Amino acid sequence: MEMEKLVSLCKRRGFLFQSSEIYGGLNGFWDYGPLGVELKRNIKEAWWRDMVTGHDDLAAPPGAPEAYEMVGLDCTIIMHPQVWKCSGHYDLFVDKMVDCKESKKRYRYDQVPGRWVESRGQKLFVTTSVEENQEADIEHRALKFLNLRAKDAADLMWQSPLISLAKIDPSDYGKVLGPDAKSLGTLTDPRDFNLMFKTIVGALGTEEDAAFLRPETAQGIFVNFKNVCDSTRVRVPFGIAQMGKSFRNEITPKNFTFRSREFEQMEIEFFCHPKSSPQWYQYWRDRRVKWYTDLWLASDRLRLREHDKEELSHYSCGTSDIEYAFPFLAAGEFGELEGIAHRGDFDLRSHMEGKLVARDGQLVVEQGPDGKPKWKGSGKDLSYRDDLTNERFIPHVIEPSAGADRGTLAFLCEAYCEDQAPDEKGEMQTRVVMKFHPRIAPVKAAVFPLVKKEGMPEVAQDIYRALKQRWHVFYDEKGAVGRRYRRQDEAGTPFCITVDGQSLQDKTVTIRDRDSLKQWRVKIDDVESELAQRLA
Ligand code: GAP
Repeated sequence: MEMEKLVSLCKRRGFLFQSSEIYGGLNGFWDYGPLGVELKRNIKEAWWRDMVTGHDDLAAPPGAPEAYEMVGLDCTIIMHPQVWKCSGHYDLFVDKMVDCKESKKRYRYDQVPGRWVESRGQKLFVTTSVEENQEADIEHRALKFLNLRAKDAADLMWQSPLISLAKIDPSDYGKVLGPDAKSLGTLTDPRDFNLMFKTIVGALGTEEDAAFLRPETAQGIFVNFKNVCDSTRVRVPFGIAQMGKSFRNEITPKNFTFRSREFEQMEIEFFCHPKSSPQWYQYWRDRRVKWYTDLWLASDRLRLREHDKEELSHYSCGTSDIEYAFPFLAAGEFGELEGIAHRGDFDLRSHMEGKLVARDGQLVVEQGPDGKPKWKGSGKDLSYRDDLTNERFIPHVIEPSAGADRGTLAFLCEAYCEDQAPDEKGEMQTRVVMKFHPRIAPVKAAVFPLVKKEGMPEVAQDIYRALKQRWHVFYDEKGAVGRRYRRQDEAGTPFCITVDGQSLQDKTVTIRDRDSLKQWRVKIDDVESELAQRLA
């Protein structure tokens, strides 16, 4: 599937628009159109239902060590600034970036690819800003910079494969041809850039009133751990779920909604006994992969990748990513959909004691120059006492953290299909069809009168109104029926119900299946139960 085709369908059919498009758009921000908003809501509702409200608290699900409870939260986007100091985001939630003094552009230095090349005694590192054909662009730029013609390409002696700018020493930056520069040495040394959006709370507007838009929903859960324990009768093991907006001032937002500056997360913090935490980690990895495949993400485009030891945060004893082979990535590459992390007791302890750092394999409170905690915790006791065993401990946390927008993008990519289907004259034509799982399809059924006369619209409208009580259904009487089917195929509507001449005589209608194109007749009185059964 070519990404351009999906991007064009998303705009044409109202799945996704660039934010503030009439003013030229804003990089890294996206709006969901009438179909997109239904799709994303259905994905979020499926997640909430499957993880929280539909979860059976009384029995251990397959693969789980025991039964567990799930509850939800909805916390504010702006929280006390100390939350981010203790969580580590204030000091450490940074990307390294370089600025170009010539082009005035800014780059994440680990996302600038380039190659060392030598020619006629000059050695330089040539970089590129293009996404595709990077090697070809680098060669073209090297020839141009060295004033050589294409036929002299053999004079270039390549000294390295394609590597990231992050792999070279900043003392060599004088030999770097920046991605959009014409001269050498225009890039600054790498600098830390905090990804949190800053804002001011209240009218005074001083630095003391500075606050941050949350870069993740997770911290709202940790700081409410005690509230949830005190206000409900949950017992460890249990999980708290939250979904909502998060904000990151990404240096290079890209690939449609994949890396945005405003996005939604669907996160679970699962609190368990330290001893059983490895089993819970395994359980959540499998449970979350199954959730995607149950909603029809093909297993050969989905993979679970366990992080190497070097990739792990210092407090984590295991992290896996659920990744999807997005079509905008090179062959064999996968992009992260969701991370499942074993976070130990890092978060609860940080909010009790203050910002933690690893020292000699132990987590200790980071100290400032005065020997006091650099960022003081809340001082509240966030430990848990098991009332059956009387044991008191700080629960360990397993965190399945998903992106609602990345999920929506993956479901869009997966659903896009082109096949051959007969038109009104029976001639085979290419058809674009979005094969969404019926649970997440934006519109569940469309109701058509075959023609706009002979009483057919009235019958069709009655069916539409009856179905509308339960589902998002669509009524359409404009244009040739074949065209109407095609529009619904592009919207991903699983079923089309058509009232025709026969309907007026025997009170039956046809139902057409989006994927198989099969049509069959059903009594009007049975349409609702037939649809309920098929949508389930
Ligand atoms: N609390 C853990 C956490 O936030 P993360 O891996 O940084 O972990 C979790 O984010 C998920 O949020 C990612 O797997 C991805 O789906 C989504 N996400 C993160 N940054 C994003 C961005 N800039 N744009 C869209 N989605 C993003």
